[in-house]
Amino acid sequence: MNAIVNVTVTGAAGQIGYALLFRIASGQLLGPDVPVRLRLLEIPQGVKAAEGTAMELDDCAFPLLAGIDIFDNPRDGFDGANIALLVGARPRAKGMERSDLLEANGGIFRPQGEAINAVAADDIRVLVVGNPANTNALIAASNAPDVPKDRFSAMTRLDHNRALTQVAKRAGVAVDDVRKLTIWGNHSATQYPDLFHAEIAGQSSHVLTEDSAWLTEEFIPVVATRGAAIIAARGASSAASAANAAIDHVYDWVNGTREGDWTSAGIVSDGSYGVPEGLVSSFPVVSRGGSWEIVQGLEIGEFSRERIDASVAELVEERLAVRALGLI
Ligand code: NAD
Ligand code: LMR
Repeated sequence: MNAIVNVTVTGAAGQIGYALLFRIASGQLLGPDVPVRLRLLEIPQGVKAAEGTAMELDDCAFPLLAGIDIFDNPRDGFDGANIALLVGARPRAKGMERSDLLEANGGIFRPQGEAINAVAADDIRVLVVGNPANTNALIAASNAPDVPKDRFSAMTRLDHNRALTQVAKRAGVAVDDVRKLTIWGNHSATQYPDLFHAEIAGQSSHVLTEDSAWLTEEFIPVVATRGAAIIAARGASSAASAANAAIDHVYDWVNGTREGDWTSAGIVSDGSYGVPEGLVSSFPVVSRGGSWEIVQGLEIGEFSRERIDASVAELVEERLAVRALGLI
């Protein structure tokens, strides 16, 4: 049996938490032979509901679940954490952009970054799901100076998965036949889902990229505004699909991405593709040996360049805003 992995989940009593915890405990986050100990972090008002979820987790008798502890402060919640899923934050309501949450949610990620720095395990890996995810990851990473920056990531896997399905439907192929698609930039309406390097059932994607009406008026806006469409339809922000994307992200990070493909993740920029160093931006990435690596050498045409730059400009603005708030 493998060693037990400590997984901290913040916002454990929320709607994503409820969709996520059972899948972690059943082995889908790390693999079918990796036991996990859950550390649930909530605010004091959320603890009772988290206790209810913990009772249900117990009642599943998951063979891989080595224990559940519930905390209401980050120092205890992140103690010894190997994996941290930072979900706990306010979701946006109808009519809001994700950046409207900066002030409300940004303040959560500074003390959490500090606590991760102080008490997490040496191999800690952090995925930020709470919005605005990229800049919240920047805040957490900036407040954890002793943790290597490449251990922090922000979730754009949901956007990536959304894009895969839109392409598969349009091309009439299975989702699994779509490869090498990229989400660039921010997890916001400015994100750029890039099809120019994609492969569809082993063929180039030019049939789709040459259909400029579909590309610019349908595909890009549908993917980029899908979160708002779900809020409008469901009356609440995406939860099960967000939990699913978090599982996919961490599973690939730890176990490696498949050969002949890549995925998308928000990671701290090293300056690749002209994205200013230090911003948490989404890139095409593979995971090798437990670390994300940016796929290098992709040719970026003018159409893509403009859109990547627009999303990155928004990240620069968000960084300025959180600097002004004293969060980084
Ligand atoms: P929710 O309101 O159902 O749950 C949030 C939970 O977080 C609540 O239980 C709350 O008590 C808890 N919480 C608040 N502050 C906390 C803190 N400081 N420490 C620990 N817990 C805290 O919200 P949800 O639907 O689960 O969404 C959570 C976040 O995820 C939102 O910001 C949402 O916008 C974001 N989200 C991101 C993506 C993505 O693709 N990156 C997708 C969906 C949702
Ligand atoms: C999503 O993309 O579904 C989430 O980020 C929730 C939101 O506010 O759109």
